[in-house]
Amino acid sequence: MCKQLALVLTLLAISLGHAAAAASVRMKVMHVDAGRGLTNRELLQRLSSRSKARAARLLPKAASAPVTPGAIPGAVPDTEYLAHLAIGTPPQPVQLTLDTGSDLVWTQCRPCISCFRQALPYFDPSLSSTFAGVPCRSTACQSLRKPSCVRSPRGQQACAYSYSYADGSVTIGRIEADTVTFDGHTATAVTGVSFGCGHDNTGIFESNETGIVGFGRGFLSLPSQLKVGNFSHCFTTITGAAAPSAVLLGLPANLYNSARGVVQTTPLVRNPPRNPNFYYVSLRGITVGSTRLPVPESAFTLRDDGDGGTIIDSGTGMTSLPEDVYKLMREAFVAQVRLRVYNVRSLSQLCFAAPSSSTAKPDDVPKLLFHFEGATLDLPRENYMFDAVEEGRSITCLAINAGGGSMTIVGNYQQQNMHVLYDLANGKLSFVPAQCEKL
Ligand SMILES: *[C@@H]1O[C@H](CO)[C@@H](O)[C@H](O)[C@H]1NC(C)=O
Ligand SMILES: *[C@@H]1O[C@H](CO)[C@@H](O)[C@H](O)[C@H]1NC(C)=O
Repeated sequence: MCKQLALVLTLLAISLGHAAAAASVRMKVMHVDAGRGLTNRELLQRLSSRSKARAARLLPKAASAPVTPGAIPGAVPDTEYLAHLAIGTPPQPVQLTLDTGSDLVWTQCRPCISCFRQALPYFDPSLSSTFAGVPCRSTACQSLRKPSCVRSPRGQQACAYSYSYADGSVTIGRIEADTVTFDGHTATAVTGVSFGCGHDNTGIFESNETGIVGFGRGFLSLPSQLKVGNFSHCFTTITGAAAPSAVLLGLPANLYNSARGVVQTTPLVRNPPRNPNFYYVSLRGITVGSTRLPVPESAFTLRDDGDGGTIIDSGTGMTSLPEDVYKLMREAFVAQVRLRVYNVRSLSQLCFAAPSSSTAKPDDVPKLLFHFEGATLDLPRENYMFDAVEEGRSITCLAINAGGGSMTIVGNYQQQNMHVLYDLANGKLSFVPAQCEKL
């Protein structure tokens, strides 16, 4: 009897220790440029270069160039949103780059072999009473691409990892498990979350982050570990006061009700061989004003070799289109806009001279619609035009880039004040206009 009880308790302890329970949590994320006091012109410039950097990282690497760890000349950070969480008991705050394109959750850990500078103290495992190792044979360890077993200082087996990103950034350390607290409330603590304790971290980390929180489709991502059937995000306006944004994991549908529009739903598609972590969607076409761009559907669809296709990515600012599609979009804008093209040196965006900023601009630029399988993204003007002042002149620029590859990436500038739901359980993506600062 006693033995049986002990066995049950042991099994319970193992399951609690090595696998997080299903949870419903709300996480606060901040836009990387929030509170820096930048002008719109500066925000636009930074958004544009981050988006290009991100696209360059997501696009061609899988096929060609080998990754050189740590060597990233002239690189620009590509963080867009920072998630504020805490790890350990008592909770130690961390701020992690939200990344729907990768799966590992990691933060820099003491003792550091090589750590980049961060504003917060490094996570110190010795200060956490709930910190625990993860066995090599665990699913968490085995789901790494190259798991390896090492001896921990305490003589136990430990799971070592080395995780690299397409831009050459690398984190090396051990997979460990600890309690994660969301939004500062211990009521939202989830026990036994596996994460990378990074002792040796190199790359460009200049956005006040302490690590990365992977939201991709792999086993180690936060949504997978919390065993939620869905997650959603609602990004507030990027310019202006820049209020915190919310990421909801496994929360009820009533949060999703909106009086501002009809919920649009499109299937999520997988691309296991090439990019198993990415969230692919089926984009069919784009309409600018009265013109459906003369692009064959195949320009947006996944090829047999895993190349091409369309993904939705929280880590990309401006939407990135294949070069030829972008050219057609640009022509369609120039043909239908009621404003004069205004070339801005040092900005590759298509910009127009805008009437004095205070005057209303109902239809000075054509409408923009993205047609997905079963869903239409009808963008409000502020989700594709960026208003700024260039040398005393009001301008408005198209916040869409040519990425240079064959993949289309739907970025987060296009998703402002839009509640976007990743319904993982049913393989669907839904979105609806929302007032994100009120969510
Ligand atoms: C960086 O992080 C620290 C600690 O959370 C915070 O106090 C500071 O305001 C942040 N700085 C920027 C520029 O985001
Ligand atoms: C998300 O998952 C939770 C937990 O399973 C469920 O209660 C909720 O209704 C789902 N939300 C949506 C919007 O489907």
